[in-house]
Amino acid sequence: MHAPARPIVVRSPEEWSRARRGPDFAGRTVGFVPTMGALHEGHVALLERARRENDRVVLSVFVNPTQFNDPKDFERYPQTWDSDLAAARDAGVDLVFAPHAGAMYPDAYRFRVTEDVFSRVMEGAHRPGHFDGVLTVVLKLLLLVDADRAYFGEKDRQQLALVRDMAAAFFLRTEIVPCPTVRAEDGLALSSRNRLLSPTGRRKAAEFARILREGPDANGTRSALELAGFDVDYVEHHEDRRFGAVRLENIRLIDNVPIQHSL
Ligand code: PAF
Repeated sequence: MHAPARPIVVRSPEEWSRARRGPDFAGRTVGFVPTMGALHEGHVALLERARRENDRVVLSVFVNPTQFNDPKDFERYPQTWDSDLAAARDAGVDLVFAPHAGAMYPDAYRFRVTEDVFSRVMEGAHRPGHFDGVLTVVLKLLLLVDADRAYFGEKDRQQLALVRDMAAAFFLRTEIVPCPTVRAEDGLALSSRNRLLSPTGRRKAAEFARILREGPDANGTRSALELAGFDVDYVEHHEDRRFGAVRLENIRLIDNVPIQHSL
């Protein structure tokens, strides 16, 4: 009998639960990479690490409607299923969980996770409800996948911190593994949204990472970004890092870098 071609694609929590209990997963460690698809080299780095550290690798592809506060942002979120599947295959993913929205929200989002402190600043302050949507879907995914390790990129560091704290608060067994931001050669942090920029916008976006890194302090960095033509949502310092969010061609870019302390 032939083993099924990898990755296996499952579309519903029930189908996934059957696979999770089956012989292919029994007694094996599982690494999990949750995504909204439109995979790039940053995701591939997470998948490769999961591949090295676990017997089985599960990738989820789900454009989670509840974390988009702007319906236009949801509608135009890039969807690249065929190339995502090819990238998953190349990275050695065993199973792709790609559910339909109805399957993830049988309760029509009556139940949700809210964090009351760190989710209120930065992304949370500028995107009302965003982190309720993120934390709710991540909790559902972590409970369903029941992985040993789940991998999150540091580009979304506020998300990573909230997920890590949520996992501790709810005694989840999955270890949350932080992974370094992957950058393009010009310094721009890789993001699925980068592909929505025009070639001119894409060249300009590299200035965001540079100014965020080299700016003198939060206010000075904000002014330098504005002078360079970015619409700035925020520049803030937390936990010895500088976080920033800007809009360019109506696309939102976020990033965070260590604060350079002058001698
Ligand atoms: O970082 C993302 O792509 C999403 O916020 C996540 C963690 C997959 C939840 O939808």
